[in-house]
Amino acid sequence: MTTILGICGSLRGGSLNAALLRSAAQVIEDATLETGSIRGIPLYDGDVETSTGIPQAVADLKARMVASDGVLLVTPEYNNGIPGVFKNAIDWLSRPASDIRSVFGDRPVAVIGASPGGFGTILAQDAWLPVLRTLGMRPWFGGRLMASRAHTLFDASGDLTDAALRRQLTEFMRGFVAFVKARPAAPR
Ligand SMILES: Cc1cc2nc3c(=O)[nH]c(=O)nc-3n(C[C@H](O)[C@H](O)[C@H](O)COP(=O)(O)O)c2cc1C
Repeated sequence: MTTILGICGSLRGGSLNAALLRSAAQVIEDATLETGSIRGIPLYDGDVETSTGIPQAVADLKARMVASDGVLLVTPEYNNGIPGVFKNAIDWLSRPASDIRSVFGDRPVAVIGASPGGFGTILAQDAWLPVLRTLGMRPWFGGRLMASRAHTLFDASGDLTDAALRRQLTEFMRGFVAFVKARPAAPR
């Protein structure tokens, strides 16, 4: 079975992006969407890396990346860019640099996001592109999904109530799964 690892870049209990990720896991077909978390990942500190190595939460998420066939980043947008907590997590995952190839290299990746604003994380999604290029990932550009006015698309429990977004998400995941299946990440 094709396994995609979804990572949400928000720590908030009521996160719209976490709700979007859960919805993606509900609509995905012919693949499993597992949920990875950035919770517990400390601020990157080179001194910590030198003295005590890679934190357990980072090592665990790296292992789940390596075991996946592809990765779905579900990104909030802060100040027209990538939220620091999310970028910080990916920065930790890229350590040591000698592991970048096995964790990120040629791994299929797609980016989606949700925001209460009118542009639905378009700038945060674009801001991920140079990061993905630097890490040698293989982005899927066959679809875009920016859930704008996202607070109106989910109910109080975080369940997706908007039929148009459900259709769009289903199509998006269908396209990404096909991309992953055509050439999954090479086993490491
Ligand atoms: C520091 C900060 C900056 C933000 N900047 C933006 C922004 O540039 N664009 C945007 O659409 N929303 C912005 N927002 C609103 C977030 O999109 C909103 O809080 C969203 O719910 C965060 O994602 P989450 O629900 O998954 O936690 C910002 C929120 C915070 C806390």
